[in-house]
This record gives sequence, structure tokens and C-alpha cells, in this order.
Amino acid sequence: MSGFDNKVAIVTGAARGTGAAVAARLCQEGARVVLSDLLDEAGQETANRIGESASFVQHDVTDGAQWSALVERTLDTHGRIDILVNNAGVLHQGPIENTSEADFRKLLEVNTLGPFLGIRAVLAAMRKQGVGSIVNVGSLDSLAAMNGLTAYCASKFGLRGLAKAAALEVGRDGIRVNTVCPAGGNPEMYGPWMDKLKGFMEETIAYGENRGIPGSVPVESIVDAVMFLAGDASSHCTGIDLPVDGGASAGCFIPGFNTL
Ligand SMILES: NC(=O)c1ccc[n+]([C@@H]2O[C@H](COP(=O)([O-])OP(=O)(O)OC[C@H]3O[C@@H](n4cnc5c(N)ncnc54)[C@H](O)[C@@H]3O)[C@@H](O)[C@H]2O)c1
Repeated sequence: MSGFDNKVAIVTGAARGTGAAVAARLCQEGARVVLSDLLDEAGQETANRIGESASFVQHDVTDGAQWSALVERTLDTHGRIDILVNNAGVLHQGPIENTSEADFRKLLEVNTLGPFLGIRAVLAAMRKQGVGSIVNVGSLDSLAAMNGLTAYCASKFGLRGLAKAAALEVGRDGIRVNTVCPAGGNPEMYGPWMDKLKGFMEETIAYGENRGIPGSVPVESIVDAVMFLAGDASSHCTGIDLPVDGGASAGCFIPGFNTL
């Protein structure tokens, strides 16, 4: 028996990367999972690969009507919703003057409005059940800001605020809302931005190396944190941020200072 047996989960942005890995682990632990993403073909393939407890629905997290349809379909098929993982996200890199109004709006719509619509859409079902766990995938950039990432930081800090206010609002109904803050994920997310970083490779590498635990964060470690917050092991955690960042948000590691 696993703590996830018979639980039903929705995972957004699950066609690939962190969302796909979370969906696969939830199914492995006994849950039934509805994967959602804009990417139709990749989403179908991921659900097929995971197995029969996974299904895929094409879904844009920025669209309230599509959220209602996704929740209705999940309840029709599975009868309940125990877990929502708001994982879908998009990146934008560039200083303020190189960030258009459309870029800024898009980041807020996908990374902040999307999770808000998701939380709102599942509340009635979770309240009726008297139980539910909502996990948002934020970022290290939800906890510590960085220049050149204004829109992303604004959207991911906003996500934390949303989670904390929602946690206070729904806690008495048995629903918890938490945020995982990873310093890494699928390289496909930042791949398209790597050209811009070409002149700054030393700084980019130092960013990952100057931490308590240097190097990139494995996706499976992010999945472990999502599973902890999604499951009953975290029954009294709500409104929290769980960094999975090798200590990056703890402070600054200065090379050489260990030998002073
Ligand atoms: N990749 C990283 O280095 C990194 C670092 C910190 C946090 N994160 C966060 O982790 C989460 C997962 O990202 P990932 O690393 O797996 O990258 P990813 O790009 O593989 O995954 C994001 C998924 O979200 C989907 N998506 C984008 N817009 C959508 C929309 N409007 N509706 C539905 N789906 C949409 C994409 O199609 C994609 O499959 C994101 O919230 C991201 O911000 C990623």
C-alpha cells in the first residue's frame, strides 16, 4: 500500500520535463493522473508511456473555461480530485527595457494566473471531499530575485503569495496549498535562451557552482519534494515554500572562504 493508492491527481505542464516526471511518479505510487499541457502530441505520448493510470488532456492553463472542462472531465472519469500540481510554466530572460508588455503579461498569465484558475477550479470538489493538496511549482526565482529575470521573478514571487493566501483561506476545509521552489528543471525550458547567455558562460556556471551543494538539481529531487507536499506525510504543512536548490536560497558560498 502506498499513500497515493486510489488518489486522483491533475498535473499541468506534464507533456515533458518536471511535470512528466511528477506524473510518472504519482502513477508509480498508485495514483490515477490526468496530465495536461498545450503540447498535444508530446502529452499523449507521455501519458501512453506512463501507462493506463495516466491520461492526457490538451489544456491551456490561462483559460478559465478550459479549466472547468478539465475538472469536469476528471470528475466524470475518476469521481474525485485529491491533488493538483500547478507545474506549467514559461521563462523570459531580458532586462526591463527588453521585456515587452506582451512578454510580461504572458509570464503573469501562465505562471501566476494559470495556478490561480487551477486552484479556483478544483476547490468545489476538494471542499466536498473535505481533503485536497495543491502543489505549485515555483522556482528559486520565487525566493531570491535576479537581474535580467524581471518578468519571471514577478510571476514566481506572485505564485508564492497566491499559495500563502489560498492556504489560509482553505485550510479549514482540509485543503493545503504549498510551493516547491527548485533551482533547476528541464533544460528544454531555458534552451531557447542559451544564445543570449553565450558571452556569460563563466558567470552562468558560477551561479550553479557557488552553492552549498554545487551543480544542477536533478529533476527526481524536485519530484521528491512535490510528492512530499502532495501526500499525507506533509499533513500539517500549508502555505510553505520548499526550496530544492542545493542551498542557493540559504545564502552565498564564497570559494576560498572555507580555508580562511
Ligand atoms: N527548467 C528550469 O530550469 C526550471 C527552474 C526552476 C523552476 N522551473 C519551473 O518548473 C516548472 C516545470 O518546468 P520544466 O523545467 O519541466 O520545463 P518545461 O518547459 O519542460 O515544462 C513546462 C511545461 O509547461 C507547458 N506550458 C507552457 N505554457 C502552458 C500553458 N499556457 N498551458 C499549459 N501548459 C503550458 C509547456 O508546454 C511545458 O511542457 C515550471 O513552472 C518552471 O517555471 C523550471
